[in-house]
Amino acid sequence: VGVSSTAVAALIGNIVIAFLMIPDCTAFREHDKGFKLCVTSRPGMKDLSHQNLTSVPPNLSNNTQYLDISYNFIQALKGAEFSGLSQLCFLKATHCGLQEISPTVFTHTPALKVLNISNNDLPFIPDISLKQLRVLDLANNVYTSYQLPASFQNLTKLELLSLGSTAALSINYSDFDPLMNVPLQHLALGAGIQWQKYDSGSLAKIKSLKKLSLFASFCGTFGMFENLLVDLNETQAKSLRCITLLPDKCNVSDNPFMNLRRMPFMQNLTIENTWINSSFMEGFLKNVWLSSLYELSFVNITYYEDTPDGFVFHNINHTISLSSVIFNGVNHYQYKYPTINMSFEAFSGLTYLKFSGTGMNILPCRVMTVLPSLETLDLSDNLLSESGFWWTPCSHSTVFPKLRKLSLSKNRFSSLSYISRETHQMNTLESLDLSFNSIHLDGDCSWPAQLTELLLGNNNLGNSVFTYLSSDFKRIDLSKTGITAISQEDLSRFPKLTHLQLSSNSIQVIPIDLTVPALVSLHIDQNAITSISKESLAGIPRLQELKAGSNPFVCSCDSYWLIITFNKSLLLDWPFDYACNSPPSFAGFSLSEYKPSELSCKMWLQAAVAVPVVLVIFAAMGLAFHKCDGAWYTKMLWVWIWMKRRGKKRANILNNVSFSYHAFISYSHQDSDWVDSQLVPCLEGTGFSLCVHERDFVPGELIIDNIINCVESSYKTLFVLSKHFVQSEWCNYELFFAQHRAIGVQQDSLVFILLEPIPIDSFPKKYLRLRSLLRQQTYLEWPKDEKKQQDFWASLKSMLHMADKSIVLKDVALAISDTVSLITDQE
Ligand SMILES: *[C@@H]1O[C@H](CO)[C@@H](O)[C@H](O)[C@H]1NC(C)=O
Ligand SMILES: *[C@@H]1O[C@H](CO)[C@@H](O)[C@H](O)[C@H]1NC(C)=O
Ligand SMILES: *[C@@H]1O[C@H](CO)[C@@H](O)[C@H](O)[C@H]1NC(C)=O
Ligand SMILES: *[C@@H]1O[C@H](CO)[C@@H](O)[C@H](O)[C@H]1NC(C)=O
Ligand SMILES: *[C@@H]1O[C@H](CO)[C@@H](O)[C@H](O)[C@H]1NC(C)=O
Ligand SMILES: *[C@@H]1O[C@H](CO)[C@@H](O)[C@H](O)[C@H]1NC(C)=O
Ligand SMILES: *[C@@H]1O[C@H](CO)[C@@H](O)[C@H](O)[C@H]1NC(C)=O
Ligand SMILES: *[C@@H]1O[C@H](CO)[C@@H](O)[C@H](O)[C@H]1NC(C)=O
Repeated sequence: VGVSSTAVAALIGNIVIAFLMIPDCTAFREHDKGFKLCVTSRPGMKDLSHQNLTSVPPNLSNNTQYLDISYNFIQALKGAEFSGLSQLCFLKATHCGLQEISPTVFTHTPALKVLNISNNDLPFIPDISLKQLRVLDLANNVYTSYQLPASFQNLTKLELLSLGSTAALSINYSDFDPLMNVPLQHLALGAGIQWQKYDSGSLAKIKSLKKLSLFASFCGTFGMFENLLVDLNETQAKSLRCITLLPDKCNVSDNPFMNLRRMPFMQNLTIENTWINSSFMEGFLKNVWLSSLYELSFVNITYYEDTPDGFVFHNINHTISLSSVIFNGVNHYQYKYPTINMSFEAFSGLTYLKFSGTGMNILPCRVMTVLPSLETLDLSDNLLSESGFWWTPCSHSTVFPKLRKLSLSKNRFSSLSYISRETHQMNTLESLDLSFNSIHLDGDCSWPAQLTELLLGNNNLGNSVFTYLSSDFKRIDLSKTGITAISQEDLSRFPKLTHLQLSSNSIQVIPIDLTVPALVSLHIDQNAITSISKESLAGIPRLQELKAGSNPFVCSCDSYWLIITFNKSLLLDWPFDYACNSPPSFAGFSLSEYKPSELSCKMWLQAAVAVPVVLVIFAAMGLAFHKCDGAWYTKMLWVWIWMKRRGKKRANILNNVSFSYHAFISYSHQDSDWVDSQLVPCLEGTGFSLCVHERDFVPGELIIDNIINCVESSYKTLFVLSKHFVQSEWCNYELFFAQHRAIGVQQDSLVFILLEPIPIDSFPKKYLRLRSLLRQQTYLEWPKDEKKQQDFWASLKSMLHMADKSIVLKDVALAISDTVSLITDQE
């Protein structure tokens, strides 16, 4: 089928407006990949670019993972500034006028995975031997040779290397020797200039090379390029990107891509930023036709028709492997429609066609007719409108028998109802992209049942858009469509909905009654949402992917669930895009570092109500406490309760009670010298058995338990009174216990020794009981005079002594069990 030149002319469409397209963003994605490889937390990121720095600041934090010092005036990197940066993983120092890098820099940064020192004035390729390095960008410097230092053989993880210098004019045979055993996949080479020499075999040294981005021009020297292709064939490279391959002024008469016919591994070829004449195109296409290429791309090309009959191509009897063709940005040098004289029949196997950034304003129907296998058609970024795409003689059901995906993004479409009706002609269409148009809601829509994906982002639609969509939709993109609120009623229309994008709208809340049973992915980033609660996601049980960053989150307990409980692996943009917006003291604070405490948040409501009340009560009680030694009595009360519980447990045991000790000695730590050196030796030396705390306490038991045990199994309790004793807390318990036993049993089980003269009235009021006991009972005073000490010991021994131990024991035991049963009865 010969297609007439006028019909084909429409393929290119409006040539007056020449569109330049945005260049392919692979470089950015590489950067992105490196970023993800490295950065795990916001504090690990340090961006010092555009700061007019003349050196690297010396006081960088040791946890720095990412450091960007690009666009400064740093001529040298010195080792010292990098000491301590052992976690540094990503270093970017482009556009700094860098001339020198001290080798010690890299001894400080063993974890470096991405190093970008492109766009500087490095006169040599620096020595680098970083074992973890994956990405190394040395492009746009001023070194005079591509000879790599031997240290590069240590880059055992290097995947991407970028080299380029306008001062390096040749590629020599041994330049890449150090990369022989490096697993380098992707090499970007050159600075966009013509080389003087390419030694055949140079690139073949990089055995693992799969992709080459060639920034070099050839004109009249295509032998070099052909040799380079042979080398790429040897490494079995799959992908070649040629940037500025042909200089603008070059009469290309050779056939530089001849070798393409014998390169069975090459799959993708991209020709970028180049002037292409129709004469060149004819020869080039013939080579492509006979090659095994799978995908062919032209990116930002300027087309010039230098053949008198336009582009003429005679079919070759050969099956074409090509299945994907991309035109992304075509400038027409001449102000006329290009003439294309060829049969497109050979392309009937094509499944993917992108024709973007060409100024096309009318669909070339007859060209499309001969592409019956087409599954994806991307006509984004053109000048198409309803009437240019659906023009009368063009029957779309026959034109696109297999088409599944159609992109009409960035065109001039406007009527949603019209488009919805017309899509019924495309029997197999599943996905339609209408983003970045001027779509408005102009009447009822009826969508074909097989259409399940509709992208409407960046059109001004508003909240009512949901009523114009089909219940068969599984994927809906409504990013930046002016939506201010969503409701359960809106979304209940879509029982099959799995993917919903609502980014860049003004939604303030996710309704808590939202029920979207099939939804797997939800994007609500860049809205006005202040918090996401458990309840609002409860109706989305299948959710696997949530993007909710860049919202004005409130750092309070409202965000507790999202921050603490919610599974972060479902959050696509966590943690970098999540920051507090309020309260003002937290503005800009990363949500991942805001750690509300569980107690404060879970008790939040109760606390809100209870706090003022409790405060008043506490204030009143505190006052009373302070006046009446309340704290001390509280402690005592606790001990009392403790005893009662114990009493119950031990009631039976107590029936068989027997004393193991003559006395339990209660004293303060500060008096332990006297107790250890005088009291204990003296009494134990004459046959008394003593329970001395620390020595006789059973390890592992509670101290209070130990004290009670000791008191209970001792005939008497001996208190060594001093100022320290009064201050000692545990002594209080001992005294308290003994007091109670004394009340219930017999007061004379208490023996007091005054280690230093203390007037009884000087005891604090809380020792009221002690004061009265001391008044009632005799107590022994420790004399400083050595002679009197003999008398002291004698009196003490007689107080502890007993005529018949067993009689006393029995009495005491009975008394204790009485007390205990009394306590037990009370409970
Ligand atoms: C290095 O930085 C430059 C300048 O920002 C950028 O264009 C380039 O893509 C970066 N290289 C890599 C490998 O990311
Ligand atoms: C850097 O210097 C320029 C020119 O002196 C000035 O305009 C700019 O504000 C400075 N930038 C910073 C971050 O100091
Ligand atoms: C294209 O053709 C024009 C006119 O013949 C010529 O001046 C130009 O150098 C050619 N460019 C290339 C890249 O072939
Ligand atoms: C380009 O080269 C061919 C063959 O060498 C020659 O016939 C043709 O006139 C040249 N075109 C221009 C514009 O120089
Ligand atoms: C590429 O390699 C294959 C074998 O691997 C060989 O048959 C073919 O001739 C080579 N092509 C070129 C251009 O050297
Ligand atoms: C497109 O290619 C031309 C060279 O043909 C170049 O000068 C221009 O910068 C390129 N545009 C973009 C956006 O890369
Ligand atoms: C193409 O070549 C095949 C054999 O390779 C032959 O059978 C067929 O007739 C040829 N077709 C045309 C149009 O020449
Ligand atoms: C979080 O989600 C991921 C992905 O769905 C899953 O593999 C992981 O087990 C989940 N973690 C927890 C703690 O639930």
